[in-house]
Parts: sequence; structure tokens; C-alpha cells
Amino acid sequence: MKKGEPLEAFESLSHIQDVYKPSKEVVENSYVKDYDSLYEFSIKENQKFWDDVAKDLEWYRHYDKVLYSEPPFYKWFTGGKINIVHNALDRHVNSSRKNKLAIIWEGEDGTGRSYTYLSLHKEVNRMANILKSFGIKKGDTVTIYLPNIPEIAVSMLACAKIGAIHSVVYAGFSATALKDRIMDAGSRLLITSDGGYRGGKIVELKKIADEALSGTPFVKTVIMVRRTGHDVPFDESRDFYYDELMNRPGIASTFKTEEMDSEDPLFILYTSGTTGKPKGILHVHGGYAVGIYITSKYVFNINDNDTYWCAADPGWITGHSYIIYGPLINGATTVMVEGSPYYPTCDRWWKIIEKHAVNIFYTSPTAIRGIMRFGEELPNKHDLSSLKILGSVGEPINPEVWRWYYKHIGKERCPIMDTWWQTESGMFLITPVPSMPLKPGSCGKPFPGIDADIFDEEGNPAPPEKGGYLVIKNPWPSMMRTIYKDEKRYIETYFSKYKNAYLAGDTAKKDKDGYFYVMGRIDDVIKVSGYRLGTAEIESALITHEAVAESAVIGKPHKLKGNSIKAFVVLKPGFEKSESLLENIRENVGHTLGPIAKPDEIEFVDSLPKTRSGKIMRRVLKAREMGLSEGDLSTIEED
Ligand code: WT7
Repeated sequence: MKKGEPLEAFESLSHIQDVYKPSKEVVENSYVKDYDSLYEFSIKENQKFWDDVAKDLEWYRHYDKVLYSEPPFYKWFTGGKINIVHNALDRHVNSSRKNKLAIIWEGEDGTGRSYTYLSLHKEVNRMANILKSFGIKKGDTVTIYLPNIPEIAVSMLACAKIGAIHSVVYAGFSATALKDRIMDAGSRLLITSDGGYRGGKIVELKKIADEALSGTPFVKTVIMVRRTGHDVPFDESRDFYYDELMNRPGIASTFKTEEMDSEDPLFILYTSGTTGKPKGILHVHGGYAVGIYITSKYVFNINDNDTYWCAADPGWITGHSYIIYGPLINGATTVMVEGSPYYPTCDRWWKIIEKHAVNIFYTSPTAIRGIMRFGEELPNKHDLSSLKILGSVGEPINPEVWRWYYKHIGKERCPIMDTWWQTESGMFLITPVPSMPLKPGSCGKPFPGIDADIFDEEGNPAPPEKGGYLVIKNPWPSMMRTIYKDEKRYIETYFSKYKNAYLAGDTAKKDKDGYFYVMGRIDDVIKVSGYRLGTAEIESALITHEAVAESAVIGKPHKLKGNSIKAFVVLKPGFEKSESLLENIRENVGHTLGPIAKPDEIEFVDSLPKTRSGKIMRRVLKAREMGLSEGDLSTIEED
């Protein structure tokens, strides 16, 4: 939080009055029937709690120690040997789940495919052999730039299987963003596709990848999945077709999974922070597997017969943890859906729920707000009676949106799990469990094992109803281990404000019953449609345009997207303000960083408010924009 934005501002937020109690049936079918006693035990005997959970997984070698602490660095299940893919795939193939559906996939163009655990296992094994044949080995990084198609799951699992580190870049990012992430991760191999479908149009992934690669000569191999089948550039010396490789004679469908140390890296996933450089969040095999296994199970109540659908993209942490690894470790059937919720028709999602009799459905407040626009007639046209549990993630859910979701999608039967967590946390940290009474707008209470609190500036716990900084006071197995190649930033960002508490970067409050309410970010991160974007990243993209001398970006509350992006731009001498220049600058952001980062509004200004040391004061711009007082302006100098 910036100076001049008092925490007290959050205290006036209205109290939530309505409470939704779970039915007897929901409680009876819940893994966690008595949250309070489990929570008490999990905090008192924290290591025992996690030890019990970890025993449900299969280890090649049992760990010696549950937790090894050297704050702020924590190691979990040390001495243990494991591979997350053994738990997500291999072990199911040797069980009654062998012929059960692992993945059901729906393409936007009306095509679809599904995989049983056995067929997925074979495909992953072949891909693992292919990666090996290109010389990829344990500890190498592989960048994956694919749409929401089964091959993204296959690629991730194949990397993990051989012990390579995957770095997935969301397919909505553009060339510069992709290039920066490839360079930082140091990948020698890229897996991409010719394109992907979104809203009836083709996203030109291969073209974007080629542009990104033109400045990254150390990528020697590109594996390209044929998804759209349209003509794309193909470099015979570097590029290979995924399907041709898969069908090569001699590519075996067996592979001996690499036995990893618990603390060996599993993946890097880039996320935005205060500076323009994205943070490579690093997760490991052992603790990550344990954390997402138990959160998927306890929060979504996943049972063996359940079909589970998380409508996020695998390119984000939600997809990593709760489309791919979490549901597969639990042996569920996971649904993957490519493209837009509105194409070809606005009831596409409800059709899919009906078609596959989805039992658990997990999406974002932005998506629900978008869908609400079309009224309840659309969901009412479909049979949604298979649904048992609903979920929400990415940003605070407005109480009225919560109530609509509860009534019109869940038909007042399905508890809504508003899960608060982060790329950094790997797993849910604050969330209801189905047996817990729910309050719209609240993300419930800390997950068992998680000691969450609200601190004031000095690190004192804030009393109920008082806003403050959301912190986690103990480590948890699936927490990030560091920021890739930037330990200093890891310590500074998360562990410097308070001693021995993880600073999440959000402001929040608790009510008298211990329910948490998340308010927003304290850093220069904007949540746009649930996507996490740094103002500094968007500003860097803006100034790549030849006409832009300087820029500042702020987030503004927006009815559908949660926040919209507003950019203030100072032009270089010799450039005239015009509508067409404005549009051109906007498009350039889309081209360099990604369509999701395009400013909704751009305003040309003659100067930007700055501190005496030259820092842009976005707070002042925001206050002006919102018609609020500008706070303490004494340090500003306008040139
Ligand atoms: C930030 C993390 C975690 C998966 C998707 C986002 C916000 C996330 C909630 C929620 C209120 C939420 C926070 C958090 N956030 N879930 N249920 N209620 N805010 O991951 O991109 O790393 O973003 O998203 O601000 O810090 P991410």
C-alpha cells in the first residue's frame, strides 16, 4: 500500500448479512466434516498434519524430515524421492483407474478428444522419449507455448517425467513477453502449435513464436503441434511436427519415470510484480504434489466418479494446479476446453456441463460477470443437475455475482468455493470447504495447515473488521522455493516487510467469525479480468512505440473486468496527438506484450506527476481519475 492510502479505507466496507449453510447431504459427502477441529489440529501439529497427507502419495524413497527451515527458505519432505507424474499418471495405470477417462477435451471448432489414463500415459511416455532424443535431460528447461489443447498437458507431464523443468507461457502473450520468458528460463527447446482458436479466429502462435525466437538463438529445437492446420512458416533446420515425431518408428510408449528429490524443480511460471521484469516462480516436485493433492480433494470433494472442469487456461497457475496436476493426482476426469465461452454460442459452457455431466465447475468472477449479461435464460435452457460444487478464483467475487452464480448455476444446491491463492502459493491458502457455512464475497477461512492473518504496518495482528496486510505465518509444502535466478527479489518481495511472515501482496480483513475478505493488491499489479499484469510491464510495452516518450499506467474499477487499464502517454517532440496514433500505440502493446494488456483508455498528457527523485506517482493519477483527494502532494514536482 502506498503512503496516503490509509488502511482504514477498507473498514467502511459493508458487512455481509446472508449466510448459506450446507445441506446435510453435502456435509455427509464431505472429506472435511468438522473444519474447526481439523484446523486446530493442523496448526498445533503442523508437521504431523502434512506428514499424514504426504503418506497418501507414492514415494520412491520415504522422506527423512517433513520440514527443514532456514527462513525464508523452506524445504519439505527432504530425503524423499518422488515424481509428481508417477502420482498423477503412472500409479493409476496400475490400478482400476487404468481405463477411466483422464482428460475430456472440447475444441472451439467443435472437435473433441478424450484420453484414458492408459492412453494419456502412453502419449506422455512417447513425448518423454522424444524430448530425450533431442538431448533434453533432468534439470533442463523447456518452454511451452500452446493453447488449451491436450498436448499442453502431455508436454508438461512429459517434461516432469524426465525431470526437466517446464516453463509454460500463456498463449495470450505476444512475442516480446514470450522472448523474455524464454531468455530468463534459458530454454533450448520450445513446444508450440501452428495456432489456436479463440472466438472463431486463429491466434497465430507459430508466427509469434518465430518472432520471439529471432532474438533467442540458443533455442535449437521447436516442436510444433498441428492444431489449426493453416499455412505457417516452418524452418526445416529447427522445426519438427509433433505428430510426425510421435509416429516415428522406434518411439516407445514406455518410459521409466525419473526419480526426483522432493526439492528438485518441477516448473517455472512467470508472473507479474512491481517491476517490469516478470518473476519466475519456482515450484518443486514433492511439496507441490502434496499441497495440490489435498486442496483439490478437500475443497472440491473430488470422488472417483467425478467429472471436474476448471475453465481456466493451463498457461496460468490455476491450470497447472487445478486442471492438470491436482485432478490427475486425485484420479479424477478433468475437462479441458479451448477458446471462448461465447463462441459459437453464448451458452457454450452450459452445453458442455450438460454434455459431460460435469460435477465440479471452477471459474472466475470475470467469467461469471460476462455470462450474467446474457441473463439466466441461457443456463436455464440446460440440464445442470449434475453439478455438486462450484468454484471461483482470481479476484474478489462481488456478493451479487456470488448470489447469481449460487442461484442460477448451482440452483441453490452447490456450495461455492471462493479460493484465494497465488502463483507463488501453488495451492489454495484461504478457501471454504464444502461443509462450511458460506458468506458471499468472503473467501472463507485458512485451509488446514495454513496460519493466515491480517497485520497492521507494524506487524501486529489487526482486530476483526480492520483492514490490513494479508500474511501467512508459517510455511506450507507447495510454496514457491524462490524466484528463478533471483533469490534477492524473493526475499525482498515476500519476506522483508515482516520477520517470519510471508507477505502475500494483498490487503484484506477478517470478520468476527474469522472469515476473510480480500480487498486488492498493494503493489503495482492490476487484476484485469483476473489476469495479473504489472503496470511497469505495460509501460515498458508502451514505450517500445516510436512516438512514446514516457507513460504511466493505472487500474480503474470496471464492471465486467474488475479493473480496466488506463495509460497516460507523453509523446516525443515531433509527434502529433491523433486518434489514429492512439490506436496505433494501443495495438503495439497488444503486439509486444499481449492482447490482454492493451489499454482500455489512453490519454495524451504533457507531463506525468513525479516525486523529486523522479518516480512516477501513479497514485496521484489514480486519485485524479477517480475524483479523490490526491493525498500528500508535497513531494511532487510537475515539470
Ligand atoms: C492474486 C494472485 C491463484 C490463481 C489465479 C490468480 C488475487 C486470487 C482470489 C480470490 C480475491 C483473489 C489476489 C492474489 N486473487 N484469488 N479468491 N479472492 N482475490 O493467481 O495471477 O498469481 O494472482 O489474485 O490479489 O494475490 P495470480
